This record gives sequence, structure tokens and C-alpha cells, in this order.
Amino acid sequence: MKNTELKITFQPSGRSVFALPGTLLMEAVGRTGIALQTPCGGRGTCGKCRVRILDAQAHCPPSAADKRMLSEEQIQQGYRLACQAYINHSMTVEIPPESQFGAAQQILTTHTGRNTILNSVIRKQYFCLQAPTIQDAVSDASRLKAVIGNVAIPFHLLLKLSAFLRTNNWTGTAVVAGNRLIGLEVGDTSQESYGVAFDLGTTTLVGALFDLKTGEEKTVLSAINPQVGFGDDVISRISRVREMRGALTEMQQAVVKAINSVIKGLVEQVGVNTRHIYEAVIAGNSTMQQILCGLDPSALGEVPFVQTFDNALTIPAQSLGLAINKGGEAFIFPQIGGFVGGDTVAGMLAAGLENPKKPVLLVDIGTNGEIVLAYNGKLQATSTAAGPAFEGARIVQGMRATAGAIEKVVIGDDVSLNIIGNTRPIGLCGTALIDAVAELLRKGIIDETGRILPPDEAPSGLSEQLRRRLISMNGHTNFLLVPANEAASGEPIYLWQKDVRELQLAMGAIRAGINILLRRAGLESADLGSVLLAGAFGNFIRRSNARRIGLLPQIPCERIHFIGNASLFGAKLALLSSDERARAERLRRGTEHVDLSLDAEFQTEFGMAMMFPDGDIDACLERPVK
Ligand code: FES
Repeated sequence: MKNTELKITFQPSGRSVFALPGTLLMEAVGRTGIALQTPCGGRGTCGKCRVRILDAQAHCPPSAADKRMLSEEQIQQGYRLACQAYINHSMTVEIPPESQFGAAQQILTTHTGRNTILNSVIRKQYFCLQAPTIQDAVSDASRLKAVIGNVAIPFHLLLKLSAFLRTNNWTGTAVVAGNRLIGLEVGDTSQESYGVAFDLGTTTLVGALFDLKTGEEKTVLSAINPQVGFGDDVISRISRVREMRGALTEMQQAVVKAINSVIKGLVEQVGVNTRHIYEAVIAGNSTMQQILCGLDPSALGEVPFVQTFDNALTIPAQSLGLAINKGGEAFIFPQIGGFVGGDTVAGMLAAGLENPKKPVLLVDIGTNGEIVLAYNGKLQATSTAAGPAFEGARIVQGMRATAGAIEKVVIGDDVSLNIIGNTRPIGLCGTALIDAVAELLRKGIIDETGRILPPDEAPSGLSEQLRRRLISMNGHTNFLLVPANEAASGEPIYLWQKDVRELQLAMGAIRAGINILLRRAGLESADLGSVLLAGAFGNFIRRSNARRIGLLPQIPCERIHFIGNASLFGAKLALLSSDERARAERLRRGTEHVDLSLDAEFQTEFGMAMMFPDGDIDACLERPVK
């Protein structure tokens, strides 16, 4: 006698299998690829494998183990232990999330040790629908929603739904973003789900590819923001938009091209198809975010510095030109005000600035310096135009931190240098600039006004080697770092007097911002529980040297922490967790924007902050020169 296979459909996945009568229900579940919790090994003693039969309960009488492990009410509702139930009829079975193996929510750990739950906005679900019958002639849309949930189906997908279902035997994979259907794919592609997170900086952009099912970071890549060709800071780019027709489109296309090139590099490294990337989460400063979105940033170029949007934006990726799945979306971070944009919100998210126990100062040192002070349940944020000096620009022999850059300077009786790539030096990057100035301040060779003293004014106890490095030219003194015969170009490398002035401008802008936030909060530097340094540059500076030049408050080095690229980390959190997106919005709403241009004392504060402090409060251990 031929046995007829019975159809078992599982919810909420919508997957179906066919099984012979007498098959253990747990076995049928296993064939769908769903693993149940079975700590007792199927002996019916743990009660963890319970499922709910939504129909045909009468054909699955409760076992002795069901009666022991489940309440009478649960049995009435159709609950059975899958390891004890045998299939004797077609049925629909619901698998509660708590019964699924691995259903325990995955935890991500943030920069500050805070845990968050993996809960991506993107959901992919394989479906296997019942074909319509005379008795069951509901619409295609309702048939699909009954399995994948009550999602909104956009018209362009509705247009192809009927043919898709009939061509593919009523099966496929639905891609859902939040409560919106964004794609229909042939076959079961539910395991291929990726997203990208970007830190979109004025000078550089960094992208990371993530597996949205596991939260795993697959790979990361960076590139220069090609908009540097249009001006090296946000003000020059805004001016360009204001003055040149077509400049906005030109800059928008340039940055999209760079983002796409990073995405291409990411997927090539790990063998992922770009059509399986469904979301790009992007955090950048206000100007970068607006230009990326094609939003005219001109209003940011004049007082009172107004942004076009503040809430986060969710935009079809195609409309921005991003090369991900054509139904994919771009999430642009919320913005606080003026030049305090999405990268600051992302940094605050990563740093966990909601209700710290002691006052915390977050400083992101870049072309545009952002400063956030969290204290007594309040948040204040500001931005300040530090300029590109920290990135080696506007420094006479400055360069980015690449091979050949002097990255560390230590001065004893003579000068010791650390060169990136162990090659002949080409120029100096931002960390070396800070080191050199801090060390020369300690030696008394630079005074508190920033003047490099000529040999005859230098301290009497100075070694001859150092004194010979003080070279007077055109009424100024420059400090010789590398003699001609040791430099890659054959030309000597100096710390120029004008480099010190550039550093004072950059440092003064940031320090004035810090001082104004502290003053408004009624706090002193000593009240700060911690200073968090964010940004690629912040990660490499020597804390004692940054503090010696006055860039950072005079607090012990143990309270100064590097938190890396917090903007990228915040973008990652928002990509992997919708709860974190809600937190980002709360941070935005709860933060007061302080516009330094409207602060009557800013100019005075700035002038004072450009002066170097008298001394240092302590010495701290730093990485040795390699
Ligand atoms: S596996 Fe333990 S009760 Fe079913």
C-alpha cells in the first residue's frame, strides 16, 4: 500500500515539508533548516521543544510527556512537545521564538562595554504559499502577507507579484525593511543578507561590510573623499556650491562614486554579491551628509548655520546612486544642528553618552572638530573649524599618515623620530606636529606664545645638538627635524614657525569649544570623569603631548581614553540594531546645540586657547619609539 505524504507548514517562516505518516514532528521541523532547543536530547523531560499545532490538533493527541510538561490550557491551545508528537495529518505548526535553537538574541558589545541586541531592520524570509483554490481565492498580496506578516507592498513590487508567484511555484524569498517589502527573490536566499556602514568624513571615508544575520564584520576599507579636490574643509565646499552652478551635483556624484568603489572593494574581498547588500547606514558631518543626499548646504554657509534636516533619513539607495540591491535603502544619521551632524550622533551612540555617572567629554579631532559634554543627564554639543592641520595639510612639509611620514618625535639631547614604513622621511603628519611642539615647549625652545626661539634666546642649558637645529630664516626661526642627507627628497625637513601657528589655530579652536561647554555647564576640567578621544587621528596622538600643548584639558592621562572611529562604530550599531536607531534619535532630541559663533566670549576664549599652557600636570607613560 502506498503511503501519502502529508504537508506540514511551519509559521512564521512559511516553510513547508512533506512527511510520511508516523514521522516525528521534530524531524519534520529539522528538514526545514530550523533547529529546535533540545537540551534533554528528545526524552520529553525539558519541555523546551514545544510547538503549537494551529489546526488538526485532534489528529495529534497529547503524549504522556505533554501532560507532564505542559499545562492543561497549553494543551488545549495546541501546544505539543515536538520530540514526542507524531505526524498523522497535514497541519500548520507555529514554532515559538523561544523554542528555536540560537533564538537567544545575539549580543553586540559597544565601545563602552554596553550590550545591545542584534535586531537589524532588514529581514529576509523564505515563503512557500498554498496555491489558490476555489475555496481559497484570497488576493496574491493577502496570501503573501499571511505568511511574511502585514508589510506594506510598494506598487512597483505589486506590479510583478502575480507573475513572480506563479512563475516560481508560489515560493521565493521576501526582503523586508522594517514593515516595508523591498524585494522578492527567486528561491531561498534568506541566508544572504548584508549591509554596509560608512563613516563619511570630510577627508576620508571608511566603509565596513556586515552580515546582518550574525552581526559579523566581514571586512573594512577606506578611501579618500574625492571632494578634497573641491576644497579641503566644509566651508570651502559650501562656498563652491554657492558660487558654482552644478558643483553640488558634481560633488554628490564624486562621493557616491567613492562610496561605490569602497563597496566594490568590500564585496570582492569576501565574495559577497552587491545585490545581497540591502542597506547602507551612513554617518557624516552635516555638510557631508547633505551633499551626499543632494541637499543644498548653502544655508550652512551663513549665520545662523541651518541644516536642511534633523531627523534621520531613509532614502531609496538607487535614488542616491548607491550600488547595492536595487530595492535597498540608505539610512542617513540624524543631525543635531549647525555643523554638529550625523557623525557626532553616531559617536555619541558608540560612546554610550546617555546618562554617564560622571561628566564625560567626547572630542572628535578632525578637519571639523566636534565636542560633546555629557553631565547630570544633560548633553551639549558643538563643532569648531579646526582645519586640516591635524591631517598634515597647511603644514609646510606636512603629509597624511602614510609611508614616509614622521609620526613620532621625541626630543632629549637630540631628536629621535619614528617614520611610518621604516623608510627615509618625506614629511610630518599631525601626530608628529603635536609631538614636536610639545617636546620643544618642554625644552623651552618654543615659548607660550608659540614663537620658536632663535639660538641666542634659547635656554642656556640646551644641548649643542639641539641649538644647531635652530635655523633662522627670513626673520623667523625653524627647527630642523631631518637634515638633507637623511631625507627622502634630499631637502631638509623643518618644523616651521608657520606650522606652529597653524597648530595653534587648530588647537585653539578645539580648546575654546571645550572651555565654553565646560563653562556653560558650570564645570572645571578637574570635574571630568573621562575624556573620550574619537576619530582616526585621535587614536594616534600621544595623550601627554596633546595635553601639553593645551589641546586637551589638564586631567590625568588615565582619564583620557581613545575610542577609535566612533562614528563608524555608531553607524554599525544603527545598521545592526533598530533599537540603537531609536537611541540615536533620543540622543539627537536630547542634545543642546551650542553655536560657538553666537557665543559672545568665543573670540576671547579662542585667543586665550591659542596660548600654550605653562606646564604639564604630570608625566604619563606613552608608547616607546620603535
Ligand atoms: S527535547 Fe526536551 S522535551 Fe523535547
